[in-house]
Amino acid sequence: MAVKLFEPYEINNVTLKNRIVMSPMCMYSCHNEDGMANDWHYTHYTSRAVGQVGLIIVEATAVTPQGRISPQDLGIWSDEHVEGLTKLAGMIKAHGAKAGIQIAHAGRKAELEGEILAPSAIPFNEKMKTPKEMSVHDIKETVKAFGKAAERAKQAGFDIIEIHGAHGYLINEFLSPITNHRSDEYGGTMENRYRFLKEVIGEVKAVWDGPLFVRVSANDYLEEGLDPSHYVMMAKWMKEDGVHLIDVSSGAVAPAKISTYPGYQVPFSEKIKREAEIPTGSVGLITTGIQAEEILQNNRADLIFLARALLRDPYWPRTAAEKLGYEIEPPVQYQRGW
Ligand SMILES: Cc1cc2nc3c(=O)[nH]c(=O)nc-3n(C[C@H](O)[C@H](O)[C@H](O)COP(=O)(O)O)c2cc1C
Repeated sequence: MAVKLFEPYEINNVTLKNRIVMSPMCMYSCHNEDGMANDWHYTHYTSRAVGQVGLIIVEATAVTPQGRISPQDLGIWSDEHVEGLTKLAGMIKAHGAKAGIQIAHAGRKAELEGEILAPSAIPFNEKMKTPKEMSVHDIKETVKAFGKAAERAKQAGFDIIEIHGAHGYLINEFLSPITNHRSDEYGGTMENRYRFLKEVIGEVKAVWDGPLFVRVSANDYLEEGLDPSHYVMMAKWMKEDGVHLIDVSSGAVAPAKISTYPGYQVPFSEKIKREAEIPTGSVGLITTGIQAEEILQNNRADLIFLARALLRDPYWPRTAAEKLGYEIEPPVQYQRGW
């Protein structure tokens, strides 16, 4: 049997050497609060490239300073960030992985000094700040910031861009009727709630012709919220708008009870892949090679995104290969120990 996890995957003229993706994970490690990449980022991401991950997606990287989740977030809001990000993308690629970056705005989930922004002035919970309802001018400026971020990601040499539309951050806040109570053209119908993301995709595509992923939260887990069938509809729109892959996560738009278990988000990826006919990535409590292989062989996703398993084991690809009876090439320097 051919092992699908280690088959190359081509997407919009970029070929990944296998189907293993390092899921974006905030490191909150910009201790100078300037959004600049530093030794931690170089070491952390490069280790997983040496570990033979096919695609490494750098953590949520803020398109504006007030779009950070915390003051320690990585940033891409100024030209000064390009140098460090160029070094980071280069180090990842030097080891045969492709380099991706997640561009993000935290919206009402920003835990920062000063004003924070959201589609509507509703706080996440009683402990969080009440955001300012964005004016149309704020919306246009933020859309432009995503475009500038994409331009900088291109300059830095990234192979893939992922727009963060999940986990209750700004884009997700526009999509969900729970967080978006606007009465203008950015709120109300699903088409209107999708408008902000549509404009962000358009602005990114104006400067970026490489593979474009969008991460979504395919289930709000709330009665009045969005569920996977709404996301099938939006995935069709994203496909029309030029998105190449939907990275399917769930939850966190508003407090909700979620029961998690191995592969709990896989059915959402499978549904979107089948019904919207667009490639998907699956993420969430995928921990073993066997589990990953099942998802791929049964066409439930095209790529496997791993987060915590890769924190525990930077050599997860090797561990998975061993369990699947497959041999992967070590880095030359490690041949004697592989
Ligand atoms: C330390 C940490 C930081 C994270 N930061 C991000 C992030 O920047 N962007 C994002 O979309 N998801 C983020 N996540 C979510 C992961 O990408 C992933 O979706 C989630 O952990 C479930 O996958 P897992 O079970 O393989 O860990 C983070 C998760 C962890 C553990």
